[in-house]
Amino acid sequence: MTDQKTNQQWGGRFSEPTDAFVARYTASVNFDQRMYKQDIQGSIAHATMLEQAGVLTVEERDAIHQGLAEVTADIEAGTFEWSIELEDVHMNIEAALTAKIGITGKKLHTGRSRNDQVATDIRLFLRDEIDIIAKELTRLQEGLLFIAEREADTIMPGFTHLQTAQPVTFGHHLLAWFEMLQRDYSRLMDCRKRMNQSPLGAAALAGTTYPIQRDLTAQLLGFDKPTENSLDSVSDRDFAIEFCAFASMLMTHLSRASEELVLWTSAQFNFIDLPDRFCTGSSIMPQKKNPDVPELVRGKTGRVNGHLICLLTLMKSQPLAYNKDNQEDKEPLFDAVDTVRDSLRAFADMIPAITSKKESMYEAAKRGFSTATDLADYLVVKGMPFRDAHEVVGKSVAYGLESGKDLSDMTLEELQVFSDTIQSDVFDVLTLEGSVAARDHIGGTAPNQVRAAVARAKTFLAQR
Ligand code: ARG
Repeated sequence: MTDQKTNQQWGGRFSEPTDAFVARYTASVNFDQRMYKQDIQGSIAHATMLEQAGVLTVEERDAIHQGLAEVTADIEAGTFEWSIELEDVHMNIEAALTAKIGITGKKLHTGRSRNDQVATDIRLFLRDEIDIIAKELTRLQEGLLFIAEREADTIMPGFTHLQTAQPVTFGHHLLAWFEMLQRDYSRLMDCRKRMNQSPLGAAALAGTTYPIQRDLTAQLLGFDKPTENSLDSVSDRDFAIEFCAFASMLMTHLSRASEELVLWTSAQFNFIDLPDRFCTGSSIMPQKKNPDVPELVRGKTGRVNGHLICLLTLMKSQPLAYNKDNQEDKEPLFDAVDTVRDSLRAFADMIPAITSKKESMYEAAKRGFSTATDLADYLVVKGMPFRDAHEVVGKSVAYGLESGKDLSDMTLEELQVFSDTIQSDVFDVLTLEGSVAARDHIGGTAPNQVRAAVARAKTFLAQR
C-alpha cells in the first residue's frame, strides 16, 4: 500500500512527501489543464485499444469510458478540483477517474507513460489549434482579396526606401500581403502534416511489453500513422518549434502590414481610414484617433519571436529521451497560439473595413515624380541609350522641382527643352494611369493584372 502522505500515483518508493514548494515548482497543472480534452480523448482511445488487445475486459473499458465522460462533464461544469499535489493534467484526471469508478481507473495507465501521453496530448492540442488558425488565416486572405479587387484601379505611390518610386495600384499592394500569407499558410500545413503522427505506445521511452496496437490508437486519434522510434517519440518537440517558426514569420508579416496601416492612417500620408471601432482616443488630446489594433499586432510580434527562441533553447543539447525540461514547452506554445489567433482575428475583422482615400493617394503618387522611369523607358524605345535617357529625365525632374510641376503637368514644349525625341505621345506614359497600365504582365501592377491575380487567388482559396 502506498503511504497516504506521498503521491498517490508514484509514491511507492518514497519515504517522505514532496516538499510543498517543490510540489508547486514542479507542477504543471495550472497551465496544462488546458489540454484536458485532448488528454481524455487520448485516454479513451488507449482504453479502446487495451480492450481490443485483450488487456482490459469490455466492462472495464466501458467503465473507463463512462468515468471519463463524467470527468469531462465536471471539468466543463467548473466543479472539477484541480490539485497541485497531483502535479499535472494527466494525474489529476486519472485520480478523478479512479475516485469515480474505483480500482478499474488504475488500469487505464497500463502500457502507457505520462511521457507518451503528454507527447500525444500536445500534438492533438496543436492540431486542433492549427485547424482554427488555418480558418482565420483564410478569412483574412478573403478579406484582402475583397478590397484588392475593389481597389484594382486605385493609384498610390509605390515605395523603395520609403521614397516615392513608381506608381502602383492599391489592389496590387494588398496582393503583396496576400502572397506573404499564402506562404504562411503553406508553412502551417507542412507543420501539420509532419506532426500528425501518433507517439502513443512509446510509453516511458522504450515501448511496452503489452500487446498494444499502435496503428489502432493512431487511427482512432486521427493521426496518419504511429511514430517510428519510441525514444524520439517522447522527446520530439520539433512540431512545437516549427509551429512557432510559422507563427514568428506570420507575425512578422502582420507587423509589416501593421506598420503600413499606421503610416497610412497618419495625417502625413492620409491614404486610408480605419473604422473607429478599431481605434482608440487620447485622454488628453481630443483630436487623436490612434490605430491601436495594428500597433498592438506589431508589438505582439516580439513575444512570439521570444517563444520561438525559448523553445529552441529548451531543446538545445537535451539528451534522449524525455526530460522534465520538456514541461516548459507548454506556456510558450500556448501563448504563441493565443497571440496568433487573436492577431489574425483582429486583422481579418479590420482589413475588409478599410476605406481608401483615393484622391490623397493619387496626389501623393503625382508629387514624387513617380513616372520618371516611364519617361526614360519612352526615350529608350525611341532609340536613345538608357544612360542618356536617365540624364534627360534627371534634368526634367530638376526643372519640375524648381517650377513645382509634375512631369505630366509640363507642356510638350517644356519637355522638348530637354530632348527633341519627346513627342506628344509621351503623355500616354507620363500619366499615372498610363504608367500602371503599362506594367501589364503576370505579377505586374496593371489593374487588369490585379483583377486576374484576384481571380487566380480565389481559386487557390476555394481548393483549401
Ligand atoms: N507534466 C509533464 C509534462 O508536462 C508530463 C510528463 C511527466 N513525466 C514524468 N515522468 N515526470 O511534460
